[in-house]
Amino acid sequence: MDILKIFFVSFFFFLSSTTAATIPTCKTTICRRYEPLIRFPFRIINRTSQPKSCGYPGFNVSCDTVNQTILELPNSGKFRLQAIDYFKQELRINDPKNCLPQRILSLNLSGSPFTAAYNQKFTFFNCSLSYLAYRLNPIACMSNTNYTVFASSSQIVINSLSSSPSCKIVAAVEVPVEWPFYEQIASSDLSDNLRLSWSEPKCGKCERRSGQCGFKSNSTIEIGCSYSSQGGLPRGARYAMMVGAGVPAMLCLLGLSSVVYRMLKFVNRNLTLPELNPSTALPPTVVRGLDGPTIDSYPKVVLGESRRLPKPDDNVCSICLSEYKPKETLKTIPHCLHCFHAECIDEWLVLNASCPVCRNAPHRLPPPLSTPPLPPPQLPLPGTM
Ligand SMILES: *[C@@H]1O[C@H](CO)[C@@H](O)[C@H](O)[C@H]1NC(C)=O
Ligand SMILES: *[C@@H]1O[C@H](CO)[C@@H](O)[C@H](O)[C@H]1NC(C)=O
Repeated sequence: MDILKIFFVSFFFFLSSTTAATIPTCKTTICRRYEPLIRFPFRIINRTSQPKSCGYPGFNVSCDTVNQTILELPNSGKFRLQAIDYFKQELRINDPKNCLPQRILSLNLSGSPFTAAYNQKFTFFNCSLSYLAYRLNPIACMSNTNYTVFASSSQIVINSLSSSPSCKIVAAVEVPVEWPFYEQIASSDLSDNLRLSWSEPKCGKCERRSGQCGFKSNSTIEIGCSYSSQGGLPRGARYAMMVGAGVPAMLCLLGLSSVVYRMLKFVNRNLTLPELNPSTALPPTVVRGLDGPTIDSYPKVVLGESRRLPKPDDNVCSICLSEYKPKETLKTIPHCLHCFHAECIDEWLVLNASCPVCRNAPHRLPPPLSTPPLPPPQLPLPGTM
């Protein structure tokens, strides 16, 4: 399958570059190497090779001082344009100043031709205290030593942060995530690109057939798709070229990709844990917690008066964020020895098989039979201190 994918991508890339190169009026252009190729409906303003008639309203982009491609949304300002998928009519954007979550809080797509390809709701919190007091993944660019900002999509975390006196809800916003998170995310720094799509103009079909999309004439905004070259090489010569150069090139690619594929497969096989082979690995869409007996089997301990824990700084339950009090029951995850209130972690483990602090998933570790039994955590018991 992978070989085929590589093959087709290369094939279409080959085709689209062939077509674009033969159209004299609206040329495909680029801010610099490795930046997205810009062609209809997009155009780079101030390029003579792309006059106004080469772009659709709302799709103007520019090149900044370091020649990154910039897309300006009317109500949200400038974003770095990371990639354009002309076939699917989608694009990826990020913050040129590398603090995307800050931009997400004020993201407003109205007035632009773009909509979210997929929205996921995140609640932002602003908590007093420094990062270190929490075991969640902070949004570093919005936090400092005195307060920490988190974004979470997990109801458990949202409930516990909402009821914590040291946290305030900043906002609950729909985030046009690049890839949906299938699980509830305890905390994300939301630094991955945003994915947007557009419905007009509908050039995807034309692009997939390696045609050139554009206005039918200067006086209309009707869209057409042209397959023939206007100027450049005659059609026959193009096909001769495609066959003459394309077929050997493709055969070459096919050979190369099969070698790469085999190498990757080899590397994969050597890196994959036995539990993760394709036949037994959990598909990413399954939200799976632990079963009751496993959860019950984790070691519990009742805190003594001194409340001393294995690590001195570890006196806050990272799920409910409250400090441990004497006589409370704590539970330890045996694989990583992180502690939580027993009732907090029980609730968590029903939904998630991984430790909320370090994300180690017990079910992905070698089965307990092959590892020596872990010693019970060294917690002081009432009366021993
Ligand atoms: C978080 O709270 C601090 C102090 O209350 C404030 O200065 C800061 O602007 C807040 N940040 C956000 C994103 O709300
Ligand atoms: C954090 O708070 C302290 C004491 O209130 C203050 O002196 C310091 O400037 C604050 N730090 C930042 C980054 O705001």
